Amino acid sequence: MNVQFLVNGRAASIDVPSNTLLVQALREQLRLTGTHVGCDTSQCGACTVLVNGKAIKSCTMLAVQAQGAEVQTIEGMAAADGTMHPMQAAFKQCHGLQCGFCTPGMVMSAVDLCRQKPQATDAEIRELLEGNICRCTGYQNIVAAVKVGRDGMSAA
Ligand code: FES
Ligand code: FES
Repeated sequence: MNVQFLVNGRAASIDVPSNTLLVQALREQLRLTGTHVGCDTSQCGACTVLVNGKAIKSCTMLAVQAQGAEVQTIEGMAAADGTMHPMQAAFKQCHGLQCGFCTPGMVMSAVDLCRQKPQATDAEIRELLEGNICRCTGYQNIVAAVKVGRDGMSAA
């Protein structure tokens, strides 16, 4: 089946079997390998992207369901001149990552979280990120990064 959608602001047209997951289409067809696959049970959140502005686990969605949608992956977060998105910069500044495997999904979820609930408390941030698993950091610095990133987003 042919799928036409916007990916990181650019029109994309791909031909995929109807059972292709969005994450497979992004990684294998469009070579956007910043979106990771960390599980086969839809639990880890490493595959999180924004679809029409909302954080979605791209392993839970078929590519054909993205027909006409606007998809944003971690590769589309930085500005054209390479300046990091405030949430990316905050993860770097606050050491919100170690191996980095979870980080693309964390950043995408964090951006959505801050848009949906800009006043979230630490406890709410932890709850809203519970769909994203990090095996390295202990989450402390991730929560700190989300708050710094939120400040950066509101200042931008
Ligand atoms: Fe999608 Fe783990 S790969 S939730
Ligand atoms: Fe390694 Fe999160 S930084 S899984």
